[in-house]
Amino acid sequence: MADLQNILTEEKNGILYLTVNREEKMNALNFDTLEEIKGIFEEAEDNKAIKAVIITGAGEKAFIAGADISEIASLNEVNARKFAENGQEIFAMIENCHKPVVAVTNGYTLGGGCELAMACHMRIATANAKFGQPEVNLGIIPGYGGTQRLTMLIGRGKANELMMTGDMIGAEEAKSLGLVNHVLPTKAEAIEKAEEIIAKIMSKAPLAIGMVIDCVNAAFLSDENGYQTEANSFARCVKSGDYKEGTSAFLEKRKPVFKGE
Ligand code: COA
Repeated sequence: MADLQNILTEEKNGILYLTVNREEKMNALNFDTLEEIKGIFEEAEDNKAIKAVIITGAGEKAFIAGADISEIASLNEVNARKFAENGQEIFAMIENCHKPVVAVTNGYTLGGGCELAMACHMRIATANAKFGQPEVNLGIIPGYGGTQRLTMLIGRGKANELMMTGDMIGAEEAKSLGLVNHVLPTKAEAIEKAEEIIAKIMSKAPLAIGMVIDCVNAAFLSDENGYQTEANSFARCVKSGDYKEGTSAFLEKRKPVFKGE
């Protein structure tokens, strides 16, 4: 990984651990941090050794407490649009990554932090996690895709309530709304849960996993026919060696060995 100032990375057993490391600022996302995340995902997509990504925030207090308000405070109409589009583009890169990306969120998961978590394929929270989109307190709205992804994840009524009131909700409520997949008591246990899910995914055919990601994402794109994407992706799977291996292994009553090709 290139020289990183705001992110810690570690690779272990095929998993890239990406930790936003601005603990003294509650891991707030400034421009440089977003650029580092972008660079990491550009590399991760092409790096065959990386099979999955877990994103966390440093320390026990916050996953990410939002975009860095010191940078937001001096925007004008022109660069505000660019600010939002840049964040949207980077978060779309996470969402479209062909390897599973899991957010492990502890403590404050607010604003851009909640938006980043929602761009991941799954979210595992600690019991002390707090989710919210408090942008209205600053006279703005979520700009990194939050208005769209929160609505898709929890539905229009609740999304409106959270974004209009700026209220925070706890981990259990977030789970009951579908914002979070699992809640674990501690960060260490939440990371273990993410690793357990990833290990299961890593035993499956990698191309098929990438196709699932494409098709699920297509369900939320108004300019794409998701059923067509599904049929095309299904056909692409059938061209792979993993398809032959998976079906043969079943018929031969043995475990498949997938190669991702
Ligand atoms: N951007 C920039 N700095 C932030 C930040 C953000 N989004 N969130 C927290 N920080 C900084 C604080 O300014 C403070 O820095 P300082 O020590 O240099 O003054 C430090 O992180 C600790 O935060 P603090 O507010 O003292 O901690 P707290 O425990 O009292 O409150 C929060 C924690 C998360 C409730 C509070 O910091 C907060 O409301 N943050 C902003 C959340 C937000 O509006 N996010 C959306 C942004 S678009």
